[in-house]
Amino acid sequence: MNFQPHADDTPMPVVDLAIVEANLKRMQAYCDQHGLKLRPHIKTHKMPGLAKWQMELGAVGITCQKLGEAEIMIDAGITDILISYPLIGPVKAARLAALARKATLAVVADSTLAIDTAAEAAEAADAPISVFIEFESGGRRAGVGSPSEALELAKRISGAPGLIFGGLMTYPLGPEAAALIAAAQSLFAAEGLAIPTISAGGTPRAFHAHEVPGVTELRVGTYIYNDRNTVGQGAATLDDCALHIEATVVSRPTADRAIIDAGSKTLSSDLTPGGAARGYGLMRDYPEAVIAKLNEEHGIVDLSACARRPEIGETVRIIPNHVCVVVNLHDEILMTRPGAPDVLMPVDARGRSR
Ligand SMILES: Cc1ncc(COP(=O)(O)O)c(C=O)c1O
Repeated sequence: MNFQPHADDTPMPVVDLAIVEANLKRMQAYCDQHGLKLRPHIKTHKMPGLAKWQMELGAVGITCQKLGEAEIMIDAGITDILISYPLIGPVKAARLAALARKATLAVVADSTLAIDTAAEAAEAADAPISVFIEFESGGRRAGVGSPSEALELAKRISGAPGLIFGGLMTYPLGPEAAALIAAAQSLFAAEGLAIPTISAGGTPRAFHAHEVPGVTELRVGTYIYNDRNTVGQGAATLDDCALHIEATVVSRPTADRAIIDAGSKTLSSDLTPGGAARGYGLMRDYPEAVIAKLNEEHGIVDLSACARRPEIGETVRIIPNHVCVVVNLHDEILMTRPGAPDVLMPVDARGRSR
């Protein structure tokens, strides 16, 4: 059986490339204005063609979260990649070594084990690998919590054959970043150790990165498409949202209830900070509607607050809560541009969780 996806089928993620272009150029202009290097995170779009477009506009390289994403990007010809995720153990070292033979690679570490994994890879590849120290700036995820821990790890990196100390990185750009950067800068200077790059990430605070002294590089992903979360956090408007899901109303069992063909397999189960009351996405043409519940293939929509209600058979547009996870659920995306033919494009690096 050879199923060919049809551009008019639903549910379908649809991207407006004119909005993408505006989003990319706005971020690049911001970085240029403030002397920041832009290293976009491809976890949002997962497409080599879009990564190349970001590079053509001025990005210094790209960021990937997983080795599997980097493998796809390097196969497509991208040659400068930061993997912003701790890689641990010999299997990762072997895969990293294979990539380091083909491209300029950097990784992050907050432990001696991650540094040793990178060192094993550099030795096997006989190629240098940069290692950044990840530090905690309020996100309470990975990362060292003090400048002295960072210094200790940086010394280990500098002393390891084949490794280059890349600098410091954090995600997201939290409130504790400025104090930690300032303290690290004076501690490292006292030890005579330069910090080549300080890399910060996250679309919601991106346009404030220049307010944090010391930050020299910005890693942003979501800005390419935006979503209900970035709109809610004031980093974009609804008109800056380049991706929406097109879905069909497949049932209207009651006056107050519509069923759409976009469930958790299409929209993901991610909510916004407003919680379940705000639903699983924004119905662009029916903003009072609430996508109240998702089964795998059913979106259950509460229309009770709507003056106007969608009919069975109608196509509706949904802005996802969190666009990165939505993209990861789809094999292809319909790319549109006013005045140009629509094109179905594969999401090459989707599903690369290793
Ligand atoms: C390490 C790291 N850097 C950068 C980003 C990009 O963040 P955003 O998609 O908000 O731009 C992420 C997102 O998860 C991340 O985990």
